[in-house]
Amino acid sequence: MLFNTRPKEDRKDLYDREKEIEMIKDSIARGEWIAVLGMRRIGKTSVVNVAVKEIGAIKVSINLMRIHDSRKKQYPKHVLISLLIEEINEAIKNYTILGKVAKLLSNILGVEEIQTNKVRAKLTKIRGTDITYIIREMDSIARDNKKQLVIILDEAQELAKVNGLDFPSIFHDVYDNCKNTVIIFTGSMVKLIEKTLKNIEYTEPFFGRYIRKITLGRFLPEQSREFLEKGFEEEGIKVDESVIDEAVKRLDGIPGWLTLFGSEYTFSAKMGTKPRIDEIIEKAINEVRNEARNFIFSTQSPLRYSAVILALDRLGGKGELHEIVKVSSTILNENIPEPRVYEILNRLVEFDFIERREDNEYYLHQDEPNRKGLILAAKDSPASYSI
Ligand SMILES: Nc1ncnc2c1ncn2[C@@H]1O[C@H](COP(=O)(O)OP(=O)(O)OP(=O)(O)O)[C@@H](O)[C@H]1O
Ligand SMILES: [Mg+2]
Repeated sequence: MLFNTRPKEDRKDLYDREKEIEMIKDSIARGEWIAVLGMRRIGKTSVVNVAVKEIGAIKVSINLMRIHDSRKKQYPKHVLISLLIEEINEAIKNYTILGKVAKLLSNILGVEEIQTNKVRAKLTKIRGTDITYIIREMDSIARDNKKQLVIILDEAQELAKVNGLDFPSIFHDVYDNCKNTVIIFTGSMVKLIEKTLKNIEYTEPFFGRYIRKITLGRFLPEQSREFLEKGFEEEGIKVDESVIDEAVKRLDGIPGWLTLFGSEYTFSAKMGTKPRIDEIIEKAINEVRNEARNFIFSTQSPLRYSAVILALDRLGGKGELHEIVKVSSTILNENIPEPRVYEILNRLVEFDFIERREDNEYYLHQDEPNRKGLILAAKDSPASYSI
């Protein structure tokens, strides 16, 4: 079903993205490592899921968002290792052929049974070489079973915050020795991931290795329209063209919003209540509002972040640095130094709350949930009540 709001697993539930799926499958088949990048809710997880499933690889998915804490700049290594062990354990449950790895893990940890909450103290003793040893074992099991091993590192920018593990050398070892293994880096903080991967690619000893980048973009308006039409047809619901027009216009080709819209609209229609477009879009706005508010509050100067966002809004949704400096300073009634505004804008770009385009101007996202959600979050800042 196109309107299922979970990440998709099967191609029949996925609209388009054929080219990207083929690229991912092709890379996996060649043993090339991949980075799948794109803004939030654009369909990264879905596209990777479908490709990996179709190629029949063993999948170990590590969602680094689970260790993410926006207030922390660094994590000790055991935080990552415990996540890694949990996810490998999960994979062992799904693929009986990986059974041997459980034994290996308990040997390394010196315990009978692996329960990450009970072995925390031991996790600090695990070294990078233990991690590569485990991956090598999984790789050889996969090879013996004529399968490939795909390790997905979602929100890969978080790797840069982990202390005490030398990732370039871990990846170097895996790259050279695990010919059956492909690592897929994914995430929405595109700029930060690119930075992290550059560090991995260009730091000895991983120098010169190539990670293929696949970027997912928004649907074009005619694709959004077709997506909605097909989805409603699947659900057996008749919808006015004007509704589709409005959704296409307000949601700007972001598959996650279109899916949410389709699913909520269908739900109301099937319940016999009149679907309200504004209410549905407000749900999406609130999702972004919460995410953005958490982000703004985690910064050192929520007030200035809020002022910069509100300045962009006052400038009609886009502006050059010097204009934003001027307007945000007026809003706060203080002179915010230009380098500081520049830094704040970059941070907002890195976290994908705003865009910086080739014309060097800064833009609020065009879709209503992202744009309004961000502005509302800026207004939520307690100190901005006076704004
Ligand atoms: N091409 C598509 N066809 C149908 N549904 C899609 C498509 N792409 C994404 N979706 C839907 O959009 C939502 C977001 O997709 P998904 O979780 O795969 O995106 P993501 O980029 O991984 O998001 P996040 O950055 O939040 O992890 C889900 O509800 C998913 O089912
Ligand atoms: Mg995802």
